[in-house]
Amino acid sequence: MTEAFQKFRAVYVPLVEKEMTGFLEKHTANDYLKESMLYSIQAGGKRLRPLLVIAAVLSFGKELEKEDCQVAAALEMIHTYSLIHDDLPAMDDDDLRRGKPTNHKVYGEAHAILAGDGLLTAAIQLIAISQLDMSKKVLLIQQLTRAAGTQGMVAGQAGDLQGETRSLSLEELVEVHEAKTGALIEFALIAGGILADQTEVIIELLSSFARYLGLAFQIRDDLLDVTSSEEELGKQVGRDETLNKSTYPGLLGIEGAAKEFEQQMKLASEKLAEIQACNNEFQPMLLENILKQLALQ
Ligand code: IPE
Ligand code: IPE
Ligand code: MG
Ligand code: MG
Ligand code: MG
Repeated sequence: MTEAFQKFRAVYVPLVEKEMTGFLEKHTANDYLKESMLYSIQAGGKRLRPLLVIAAVLSFGKELEKEDCQVAAALEMIHTYSLIHDDLPAMDDDDLRRGKPTNHKVYGEAHAILAGDGLLTAAIQLIAISQLDMSKKVLLIQQLTRAAGTQGMVAGQAGDLQGETRSLSLEELVEVHEAKTGALIEFALIAGGILADQTEVIIELLSSFARYLGLAFQIRDDLLDVTSSEEELGKQVGRDETLNKSTYPGLLGIEGAAKEFEQQMKLASEKLAEIQACNNEFQPMLLENILKQLALQ
């Protein structure tokens, strides 16, 4: 980990975790369900998405408030739900996540499904009951549900599963990756822009930055499934090949996929310069540090 990123994480991850844990502790009416949700939430993870929300907010010189952390927490709750369901036997059938047995291995399939359902719903509730200004709240819920649902992550997961029985073209694979992974990452940046009261033009540039970053991130995930290890990732490797998934390394080879990763990261980085040119208060350093961190592995 780069030193800058490590410092950034150490300050802001606890704030997000406090919001997630606090909400679930207080608003869950079944103890076993609560335990299973907290198991996956507290298993760790890189917390990339909430850190992107916070980095975007701070990049515009806005002071971080509780509500910003609540939106970041809601996004991480939805991401965690997507992982619990992604690991289910009917989906990717994985045994290890974030260095621990997957949710269904510990709590059983039925409760893992419910833990996912619970986290998804709780995320929306968390934003809905926050002290955010009403119009911002509605806009954020609108954007988050679009990104998480049938136009975003859920649709992408459907495409991913369909890609197991039919080899996807590169164009189709880009679409799946942008939806299953890109959409929630895009929401992180859009939310940061909304919370920092940015104009539509800036929010569109943030979206565009996030689309490159999101695609790069899933290409990297596909690559790591081939090149990394279980110890390093905290999840099983080689699963994509076993499941006959359509992936970047599968279509382009390791070198081709790595090149495409670099290309998307370069485009993302160029977008940051464009944002700065449109708004001279924008400080790209925090987002640049996140890009640097992702390029490391
Ligand atoms: C894993 O996401 C699933 C993908 C969308 C690639 P992360 O790699 O962000 O997983 P955690 O949150 O760090 O566990
Ligand atoms: C998951 O993609 C995307 C989600 C929306 C959860 P993967 O299936 O490649 O993620 P990992 O490799 O299991 O983390
Ligand atoms: Mg999957
Ligand atoms: Mg998976
Ligand atoms: Mg993967």
